[in-house]
Amino acid sequence: MFRVITQGIPGTAMPPFPSGGVRVWQVITYIASLREGPRNFTGNAQRGRSLVEKQGCLQCHSLAAPEFVDAARRLSRSELRQALLEPDAWVAPEYWAWKGTLRGQRVVEGRRLNEDTFSVQVMEKSGRLRTIPRSSLLKVVHEPRSSMPSFQGKLGENDIDHILTYLESLR
Ligand code: HEC
Repeated sequence: MFRVITQGIPGTAMPPFPSGGVRVWQVITYIASLREGPRNFTGNAQRGRSLVEKQGCLQCHSLAAPEFVDAARRLSRSELRQALLEPDAWVAPEYWAWKGTLRGQRVVEGRRLNEDTFSVQVMEKSGRLRTIPRSSLLKVVHEPRSSMPSFQGKLGENDIDHILTYLESLR
């Protein structure tokens, strides 16, 4: 499907969409989610919502993470499940963990928002914005690790079902 979308279908009105990459995979995910057929309503959206409130999801998801509605539209149920249980399995580049060691061995951790020749702009977990001059950075680690904790083992199967059904109800 990736090839069909990036190259189009010769002799048909299906145009190529050559930009490739993440966007094409998002389109494929969307098409795949349409194919999943009738939704599996084993969970209860109301209970899912109160679990989301109790588990503290909203502390992060209003600030540093993609909004649930967007995620629910983009991801299939099994991908939402993976996002919950294995957050490191796929992390969008803008959410990669950034860790810089400054002169004096002070460490700053967070998410890189921007960078230019002279400085790096980082949002710390607390929500605080920092502009760090490159000249004061001794070491940088920027890797596809999520700051979201895994909920594997912290939530029972039923609770996971409720949360997934709640997320799906936002589509
Ligand atoms: C400590 C902060 C934090 C907490 C708590 C947290 N998340 Fe996340 N979450 C993130 C970050 C950061 C991302 C983006 C990086 C990634 O994909 O893992 C994310 C990503 C996601 C995604 C995937 C979004 C996408 O667009 O790919 C879903 C779904 C999600 N979280 C649901 C939840 C739910 C449900 C809870 C509570 C049970 C929760 N999160 C708790 C920080 C958090």
